Amino acid sequence: TLRTAILISGGGSNMVALARSMTGDHPARPVLVLSNRPEAGGLGLAGGMGIDTAVVDHRAFKGDRPGFEAALNRALDAAAPDLICLAGFMRVLTSAFTDRWAGRMLNIHPSLLPKYRGLDTHARALAAGDRMHGCTVHEVTAELDGGPILGQARIGIRPGDTPDTLAARLLPFEHALYPLVLRRFADGVRTPVTIEAG
Ligand code: GAR
Repeated sequence: TLRTAILISGGGSNMVALARSMTGDHPARPVLVLSNRPEAGGLGLAGGMGIDTAVVDHRAFKGDRPGFEAALNRALDAAAPDLICLAGFMRVLTSAFTDRWAGRMLNIHPSLLPKYRGLDTHARALAAGDRMHGCTVHEVTAELDGGPILGQARIGIRPGDTPDTLAARLLPFEHALYPLVLRRFADGVRTPVTIEAG
C-alpha cells in the first residue's frame, strides 16, 4: 500500500475527503495528518478517523525555514510516507524540501492554474472579471503553485458572487477533484483530468 501523509493548516475538509477515499481497493492509505498549526481543526477530525496526527509549529522556528522543514522531514520520516498531499497547507516550501519529495507530493490550489498562484485567488478571479473559476491539483515543485497539472474542476462565476460565495461553491468540487486525482496518481496515471460543474 502507498502510505500517504496529509499536510494541513486549517479546517481539513480536503484532508477528510482524501482520507475517506482511501478505503477498499484503493492503493493508498492515510498514515499521518501533519499540521503546522496546533489549533488546526483538521487535527481533531483526523484523530476521530483514527489517523495519527502530528504538529510542527512554524512559530517555534521564527524565520528558520531550514529548521522548520527539517522538523517536518523528521515527522514525515517517522511515518515513512510514499505520498504527501498538501491540503490547505499554508506555508511556502523551499526547493530543499520539494526536491526531496519530488514526484511524490501533490497540492490543491483554489484557482485554475496557471492563473492566480499564491493567495486571494477568489478575489483576484472576481476582480479580473473572469467568467470561470476553479481549482487545480498539481505536483509540487520548487516553483510555487507551478508544478505539472494533474486535474482541474471548473465552475461558473455568477453575478453577485463574492470571494466567500465563490469559495463555498468551489469547496465541494475540491472534495471531488482531489480524491479523483489521488486515485489516478496512485494508479500511475499522470494525464490531467477535468471536472466541469453541471
Ligand atoms: C482549500 O480551499 C484549498 O484549496 C486552499 O485552502 C483551503 C483549505 O480548506 N488551499 C490553498 O489556498 C493553498 N495555497 P480545508 O482545510 O478545508 O481543506
